[in-house]
Amino acid sequence: PQITYTDHEGATRVVDGVAGDSVMETAVRHGVPGIVAECGGSLSCATCHVFVAEEDLELLPPMSEMEDEMLYGTAVDREENSRLSCQLRLTEGCDLHVTTPETQV
Ligand code: FES
Repeated sequence: PQITYTDHEGATRVVDGVAGDSVMETAVRHGVPGIVAECGGSLSCATCHVFVAEEDLELLPPMSEMEDEMLYGTAVDREENSRLSCQLRLTEGCDLHVTTPETQV
């Protein structure tokens, strides 16, 4: 699956991801800036915050209560389309487009 990352200034990178990896891991592995992921994916830092493209929202599993709670602790305020990218697993044939916030800390 292809993941498109757009930063807050509009610069875009497209990365080929591996099914089963998270959107966060894929970014870190490819050196995509804008995702800090301090806790390494254990849902305790909220520095992997992304905004998901409107048309991709329905492709994603609903968020857990814990993710929902953590999203109140992001550096840039959450929006309707906010998710924590460590909770978003890539699946075959499911391309995603996310935008990273101006800061994660
Ligand atoms: Fe820490 Fe996602 S990497 S909450």
